Amino acid sequence: MKIRLLAGGCALAALTFSGLSATADPADDTLVLNGETEMVTHTEKAPDYIDGLTEQYSGWLFREADTRVMQADDFDNPGMLGVEAAAEVWNTVEGSEGKSCASCHEDVETSMKGVRTQMPKYNEAKGTMYTMEMYINECRTERMGAEEWGWTSDPMINMTALISSVSRGMPMNVAVDGPAKPFWEQGKEMYYTRYGQLELACANCHEDNYGNYIRADHLSQGQTNGFPVYRLKQGALISQHNRFKGCIRDTRAETFKEGSPEFIALELYVASRGNGLSVESPSVRN
Ligand code: HEC
Ligand code: HEC
Repeated sequence: MKIRLLAGGCALAALTFSGLSATADPADDTLVLNGETEMVTHTEKAPDYIDGLTEQYSGWLFREADTRVMQADDFDNPGMLGVEAAAEVWNTVEGSEGKSCASCHEDVETSMKGVRTQMPKYNEAKGTMYTMEMYINECRTERMGAEEWGWTSDPMINMTALISSVSRGMPMNVAVDGPAKPFWEQGKEMYYTRYGQLELACANCHEDNYGNYIRADHLSQGQTNGFPVYRLKQGALISQHNRFKGCIRDTRAETFKEGSPEFIALELYVASRGNGLSVESPSVRN
């Protein structure tokens, strides 16, 4: 398949998606974490409410073999250093109330198991959609009397990696109906909106062209089941909203901020496209 998109008559803005022979397919590989937990990285059937996908593929299947291997073993996964750092913070008392996360939640592996599969979710008490970052900051400010963490600060990303890691192997399962519905609809609309000088929507790259190459990048479905992701290129764990920002910037558009209502709605919609795939966080990508 070869598609050429020309934007605004500007030759520099021409982007080519190309299928480079057989290498364009997702890898035929199975992810077994630490030789124990078999992960679902491919399903034959996407959820019915996702019109544009028949099958689902984790981004893991579009990365090179050495990157895939790195994620399969906790000793080789550089993202696990962030998880370890957060495990210490979990037990550290901070703030005016003299509490740590563990004071209330006790063992993270038990109390936070499955939490990542449902994020983001509708918070009844607050009457709005809540991401994991928002729950964490609510606990810090309202329950610990501590300062809130910045959305992309190290302690926040490390903590989301720790909490997510205890759900690894469990299927993503965000709610798309009930009070979540209007947020989901908003996110869906954004997913199909063309942004920037290149006039590209998320769907143009991650739905119409996954498997193809864009420049040197092997395009995946843009799934979020591996977030936060350790990006080798950046040498750091990054959040979903940081990734969304980068993708929108690549279309040469103004972008939204991390934590903005727009990105929260988009996070929900993109997560729902991956319902059924295993949580992989922290995953490794280039
Ligand atoms: C004083 C007790 C207390 C402390 C300390 C506390 N939490 Fe919480 N946490 C709660 C309560 C209560 C809820 C449930 C809130 C709700 O359902 O709206 C909660 C909810 C959460 C959730 C959402 C769980 C879910 O099932 O959706 C996360 C994530 C979380 N806390 C993380 C943390 C982290 C990380 C820390 C330490 C930085 C922390 N909490 C400190 C009491 C606490
Ligand atoms: C011009 C093409 C393009 C557009 C438009 C685009 N992306 Fe991406 N995106 C990429 C490339 C290239 C990568 C890195 C390779 C990959 O994983 O597909 C990527 C990666 C991602 C990833 C990381 C996947 C993983 O497994 O780590 C997510 C999530 C993502 N994009 C979401 C989005 C969302 C949401 C939008 C719309 C706001 C969007 N992208 C728009 C090209 C694009």
